[in-house]
Amino acid sequence: MPEAPAMHIDKGLDNTIIGESRKSFIDGQAGILEYVGIDIDDLARTSTFEEVVFLLWNDRLPTAAELESFETELRAEYSLSSEMVGMLKSIPHDASPMHVLRSMVSSLALEDPECNDQSLESERRKAIRVLSKTPAIIAGFDRCRRGLELIDPDPSLNMATNFLWMLNGEMPGEASARAIDVCLILHADHGINASTFAAMVTIATQSDMYSALTSAVGTLRGPLHGGANERVMHMLQSIGGHDEVESFVMNSLENKTRIMGFGHRVYKALDPRAKYLKTFAEQIAEETGNTDLYVLSTRIQDIMDREVGAKGIYPNVDFYSATTYFSLGLAIDLFTPVFAMSRNAGWAAHSLEQHQDNRLIRPRCQYMGEHGVEYVHIDKR
Ligand code: CMC
Repeated sequence: MPEAPAMHIDKGLDNTIIGESRKSFIDGQAGILEYVGIDIDDLARTSTFEEVVFLLWNDRLPTAAELESFETELRAEYSLSSEMVGMLKSIPHDASPMHVLRSMVSSLALEDPECNDQSLESERRKAIRVLSKTPAIIAGFDRCRRGLELIDPDPSLNMATNFLWMLNGEMPGEASARAIDVCLILHADHGINASTFAAMVTIATQSDMYSALTSAVGTLRGPLHGGANERVMHMLQSIGGHDEVESFVMNSLENKTRIMGFGHRVYKALDPRAKYLKTFAEQIAEETGNTDLYVLSTRIQDIMDREVGAKGIYPNVDFYSATTYFSLGLAIDLFTPVFAMSRNAGWAAHSLEQHQDNRLIRPRCQYMGEHGVEYVHIDKR
């Protein structure tokens, strides 16, 4: 019998590298994030979400012709079938949009004739379908619950603009559409975070892309992960006014209650996405007259910097994306679905990478229970 390798416990997998990847690089000490070697700042300033998806799925930037053809492929999948629209309409209107999204992503497999084709090309096509249909699911459900008619997607628009069009039924201004586009770029990938890991674990069993993306949506939902952006907004709204910020933060720290939108498992410096989103949040707040919320946020950041900055606790991506989304008029419970809309890109990128060089992901745990326990018949217990 071969000798069993040495094992160690790594609760939370903080110190475990689970494999190799070419998708994103994070230097948590220096506060650097790159997608396929390109700095996130450069991408946020000059790229588009569609180009970033191509980059993550192909490990290189597209040529103009490749980008055009990729965009055509994505836009051809924008709409939902009448059966999916029917399903969306039948969901209780008070359901949480993340539960809706998880159920609908899962349901897309039901009408895909190639759902059992496990080839790489087929899995890529499935990823395109989920990525392209997610905006219609989120916007469609929001309109259903508001008692409004659903708006057909417009394939002449990019994903960000089309999302706002389907959500509001009016063409967004250039600044709002670009704001969503940049948010999609900034959230597209982030190494092996919890939801990406969930997707990889699923695809590694030779299940399928729908199952992988469904696992990921369910995992993103939690407040320690993607759900934090909604909690940030609730937290900001719960603080009465600027005079109460100091006592709110100090009481929370004293009671060991986490300030949502701060801290990160990997970043011990300022999250580079937060740096970008802060500038953005300020601009949009000024444009939309929501400066109060922005100022409140910066006040929290100042106090957190003073109190826990030395411990490496800084704003993460969720802190300023919350005020950005709010200023753009998004319902608070759509913040995490919009995160998912973007992260589909990264989930699929890592799942396709796993598919190409697969090994079943199967960690172990240290058994702490007893051995040789006698089975006692139910009548005698
Ligand atoms: N507010 C106050 N204290 C904090 C916070 C916070 N947000 N985050 C960490 N700490 C403290 C924590 O209390 C602990 O202090 P001590 O050493 O005195 O016990 C220390 O920092 C280390 O905390 P940890 O729990 O060991 O760190 P972690 O790596 O498990 O935490 C985290 C990462 C994201 C779960 C945590 O920072 C947190 O709960 N933040 C709030 C929720 C949030 O914003 N989540 C979004 C994460 S970023 C987006 C994403 O990846 O999805």
